[in-house]
Amino acid sequence: MTVQHSPLDPALVASINGPEEVAKTGKRCVMNRRQFLLTSGISTFTIMVALKSGPSAAKVPAVVSTYKRKFIAKLSELKQDEPLDFTYPDEGAYAESILVKLGREAGGGIGPQKDIVAFSYTCTHQGGPLQDTYKAADKALGPCPLHLTTFDLTRHGIFISGQAYQSLPQVLLELDGDDIYAVGMFGLIYGRHDNLQG
Ligand code: FES
Repeated sequence: MTVQHSPLDPALVASINGPEEVAKTGKRCVMNRRQFLLTSGISTFTIMVALKSGPSAAKVPAVVSTYKRKFIAKLSELKQDEPLDFTYPDEGAYAESILVKLGREAGGGIGPQKDIVAFSYTCTHQGGPLQDTYKAADKALGPCPLHLTTFDLTRHGIFISGQAYQSLPQVLLELDGDDIYAVGMFGLIYGRHDNLQG
């Protein structure tokens, strides 16, 4: 079986775990390139499946899975520090997510100010619910009601304090005119072995 993937945008990878972010923040996101590939779904993976064994075996490509493109909100209707709840990548367990215009440039942010970001609402430590914990003053989500972890939404959801040791999964956003779409995810959602099998 041969697995192939399309090349990643180097600028995107650098923004997730590259020298730019390290130089800016002094810290790396808690995600390496392998984890990114395993969980992002940005690449279209093609598996060459052998239909028969032997020299005459035919190999056919089978696309496994990719994230769906989901409309989330209108850019013109977003107000700074007023979060919008949505579900992604499906309607299953732990799909609740937050979209927010921070009013400050953020890693992975979109829009004219690069300040619109989206994240999973489920704490990466033990699945605590982070709904209604957005802190506008700090541009952070938390503290988690279970063990008090707080996540920085300007730096790809990296944990600031508390018990969690993995960044909050970030929803990859795309702007098309005035429409904001969710198109992928960085990081594994708590409680899932695969983001696309909730
Ligand atoms: S579940 Fe959130 S800090 Fe433990």
